[in-house]
Amino acid sequence: MSYIKVEKVYKRFIRRGQQTEALRDINLELEQGTFVSLIGPSGCGKSTLLRIIGGLTDSSEGIVSVGGQTPQQAQSDKQFGFVPQAAALFPWRTVLQNMNLPFEVNKKAGAALTSEREDPVELLKSVGLGDFVHAYAKELSGGMQQRVGIARAFGSGAPILLMDEPFSALDEITREMLSYQLLDIWETHKKTVIFVTHSLREAVLLSDKVVVMSSRPGRISQVIDIDLPRPRRAEMEDTEEFHHYISLVRGQLRERWG
Ligand SMILES: Nc1ncnc2c1ncn2[C@@H]1O[C@H](COP(=O)(O)OP(=O)(O)OP(=O)(O)O)[C@@H](O)[C@H]1O
Ligand SMILES: [Mg+2]
Repeated sequence: MSYIKVEKVYKRFIRRGQQTEALRDINLELEQGTFVSLIGPSGCGKSTLLRIIGGLTDSSEGIVSVGGQTPQQAQSDKQFGFVPQAAALFPWRTVLQNMNLPFEVNKKAGAALTSEREDPVELLKSVGLGDFVHAYAKELSGGMQQRVGIARAFGSGAPILLMDEPFSALDEITREMLSYQLLDIWETHKKTVIFVTHSLREAVLLSDKVVVMSSRPGRISQVIDIDLPRPRRAEMEDTEEFHHYISLVRGQLRERWG
């Protein structure tokens, strides 16, 4: 049985009497420990779908199950780590203190942790921040802060990470470097990741599966399996196979725009 199962999910928003159909008939099955990207035009419902899976928004119709639980149960069971566009760090805390935040929150809530705790310093090293463990978060650049957010999510004990365009506020060079660091940390920890992006390159480079969505109403137009070998390295981006997958995803996106 699939780990995350989305069946016949619809989402309608009503605002000032006007109805928006954000998602129509979404069906998706994801295996544990896989990296899945959601890609599609702005407004096609990627964030909404992520929030429904994560138990932050209710669907209007349909069923979502996460390891046999409802999203709300899974959420209260600390199954999800969220990585938003900008890392939610406390500026006056050090990097290490920010890494400890999910554990302090969990302790207060009296929740049991689902897995052994990872070494925060090792996690920071794996995103190139070994020298900044005791720096204040406010002393870091945007890209560095985002790396703390990613390392923290991987160390949080949550088996499923929901990332909503975590690199979108960053410049191209930082993005490229971070995508490799994300690959490395994912190869080590093999969590289930759902990653929203507008970048074809990121989607193909990182994913086992790319879910292509189309808008008005938001639907899944195709799910493309990326059968590129792992671990994936920079050289792979120059291969014909890689470009083949990029064109496949681009073609699917264009078909729906046209
Ligand atoms: N809370 C809300 N109330 C009303 N409408 C909403 C709400 N959230 C999202 N929508 C609508 O649902 C649709 C999908 O929005 P969503 O944010 O999921 O898109 P998206 O694919 O993440 O877009 P982007 O790539 O721009 O982030 C849009 O038409 C949006 O206006
Ligand atoms: Mg969005």
